[in-house]
Amino acid sequence: MRKKVIAGNWKMNMLPNETISFIQELEPLVKDTQNEVILCVPYTDLFYALLTAQNTNIKIGAQNMHFEESGAYTGEVSAKMLKAINVEYVIIGHSERRQYFAETDETVNKKLKAAFANGLKPIVCVGESLSQRENGEAENVIINQVRLALEGLTNEQVKNTIIAYEPIWAIGTGKTATSEDANNSIKWIRAEIEKIYGKDVAEEVIIQYGGSVKSSNAKELFTTSDIDGGLVGGASLKSEEFAKIVNYNR
Ligand code: 13P
Repeated sequence: MRKKVIAGNWKMNMLPNETISFIQELEPLVKDTQNEVILCVPYTDLFYALLTAQNTNIKIGAQNMHFEESGAYTGEVSAKMLKAINVEYVIIGHSERRQYFAETDETVNKKLKAAFANGLKPIVCVGESLSQRENGEAENVIINQVRLALEGLTNEQVKNTIIAYEPIWAIGTGKTATSEDANNSIKWIRAEIEKIYGKDVAEEVIIQYGGSVKSSNAKELFTTSDIDGGLVGGASLKSEEFAKIVNYNR
C-alpha cells in the first residue's frame, strides 16, 4: 500500500514569524496522522521552519534548487546547500518555474540528478495546459515530461521520486480536475513508468495531484485508485484548512 503524501507549496508567501506560528498551529492538528506531511516554503523561511518542525511529523522542503553544486550562479541555491541545513524535500519543475523562469525538461532532469546526489527527495511537477488538454494532447505531453524528467535515474531513484501531476489550468483557478480525470492522468503516468522501469517501481512511486485542492475536495481526490495525495497551493496557507486536507481520512 502506498502512503498518502500531502505537501503544501507556499509559493512566494509567508514571512519567518508567520512560518513559526503556522507550524505551531499545525503541529497538534496533524500529529496523529498516518499521512506524510510536507511544507515547501520560501528559502528565507527554511531555517525557521526546520527549527519549529523539529521533533514533529512535519517535513520541510524547498521550492527549487540549482543543479550545480556551487559556482558563479548569482542568486541561486544548490542541493548541497539545502541538504547542509537539513532540508529533506525539494519541488522541481513546477509549472510556474517552467512558465516564468525558463525551466525546461532538461534542467528538470539535471536538478533531479543533483537532488539525489545530495540526498534530497524530489517532488517533480508535470502537467498539461488547457489548450493541450482541449487538443487531446494531454497524455502525450504528460508522459513526455515524465520520461524526460526521469531519464538516466536508477530504478531505486525513480521509486523515491514523488511526482506531482498538476494540470496547469487547475492551478490557482479554483477549477479542479474531476477526480476521475486526475486519476486517469495519473494512471497514464504510472503505466509509462511501468513500461520503462517495471511494475514494482510503478507500484511504489508516489504520484500526487495538484490544482485547487481544498478540504472540500481532498477526500474525493485522494480516495481514488492512483492518486497518492496532493500538492496544495493556496489552501496550504491556512493551518486549519491545510490540516483538514491532511486529515481527509479521519
Ligand atoms: P493551488 O492549490 O493554489 O491551485 O496551487 C497548486 C499548485 O501549484 C501547487 O504546487
